[in-house]
Amino acid sequence: MQDILLLGIETSCDETAAAVVKNGREVLSNVISSQVALHAEFGGVVPEIASRNHLEKIDEVIRLAVKEAGIGFSDLSGISVTVGPGLVGALLVGVSEAKALSYALKKPLIPVHHIEGHIAANYISHADCQPPFVCLVASGGHSHLLLVEDYGKIKIFGRTRDDAAGEAFDKVARAVGLGYPGGPKLEKMAKEGNPDAFHFPTAKMEDSPYDFSFSGVKSAVLNEMNRKKMLSEEVHVADLCASFQENVTEVLSEKAILLCKDLGVSRLAIAGGVSANGKLREKMQEKAEKEGISFYSPKIILCTDNAAMIAAAGYYEWKNGNFADYSVNAYPSLSL
Ligand code: KG4
Ligand code: ZN
Repeated sequence: MQDILLLGIETSCDETAAAVVKNGREVLSNVISSQVALHAEFGGVVPEIASRNHLEKIDEVIRLAVKEAGIGFSDLSGISVTVGPGLVGALLVGVSEAKALSYALKKPLIPVHHIEGHIAANYISHADCQPPFVCLVASGGHSHLLLVEDYGKIKIFGRTRDDAAGEAFDKVARAVGLGYPGGPKLEKMAKEGNPDAFHFPTAKMEDSPYDFSFSGVKSAVLNEMNRKKMLSEEVHVADLCASFQENVTEVLSEKAILLCKDLGVSRLAIAGGVSANGKLREKMQEKAEKEGISFYSPKIILCTDNAAMIAAAGYYEWKNGNFADYSVNAYPSLSL
């Protein structure tokens, strides 16, 4: 069979990314231009700044991805692009670029759901990772517990009732003065703290055991910090971070294992920015091993937003015959 070389384009939030992936599994290039420094002074992503910066960087990032792959544009089999969900102005930059390239090169255009991209990061990192498997998707905007029945066929069993896991990490990090981006900074600080210093509450979800709620633990951390400040007591930020991280990673890993057991599925994967968290990876690995479940996690660089995952997901969309015409748009609230 002829090799399928897909260009992936990702601009849904604050990374301008392009990559070339062969047959959905082999990364030939993976270029990421991060805007973190631009947004840091505002404490979070500023949509208008994100769109403008994508526009400035996108051509250069794509050219570099094709060059680093050691191919020419004419060697590409197609263009896959994130069409949603995400910031509409940011998404539009990638979608417009993909449409223009597809038209000029006369190559098929493949629309990709951002979350399907995150899941596909596992296909790149593990040759033996294939459906069916349970996947915990935890990013800045999403927390889903789902079953990947087949490539591109997903059944959702649990979702967050309030904050996404990454959003909770970001909000707590900001409140304790760590700034943006919160997740990685909080994880670093937690290494210096005691995870048993505080026992924050976990939400009980008797009616839907796979759903999440992180606003309670987030508020508990903030209340504890404010209480200490009011009493002019010293705030042990590292302990707060370690205890918060312990709480969230325990809930995420427990529920993921529970779904595997309930469905009788023996493969489990994680995806999304929060899957870069060392404590979460450790807990998932430990619990999975105990239950005889095979555990998959993407390489750290493929956990947060990148375009290799979009090209990997695009390959399976290609195989399913899911192509787009030029009426395709950016869909900020695209559902799974
Ligand atoms: O997947 P992603 O790059 O973007 C979205 O699609 O949202 O995820 C970003 C989220 C942010 O909330 C960030 O704080 C979180 O993932 N994150 C982490 C870590 N690295 C990134 N959370 C906890 N620990 C980390 N090491
Ligand atoms: Zn993402």
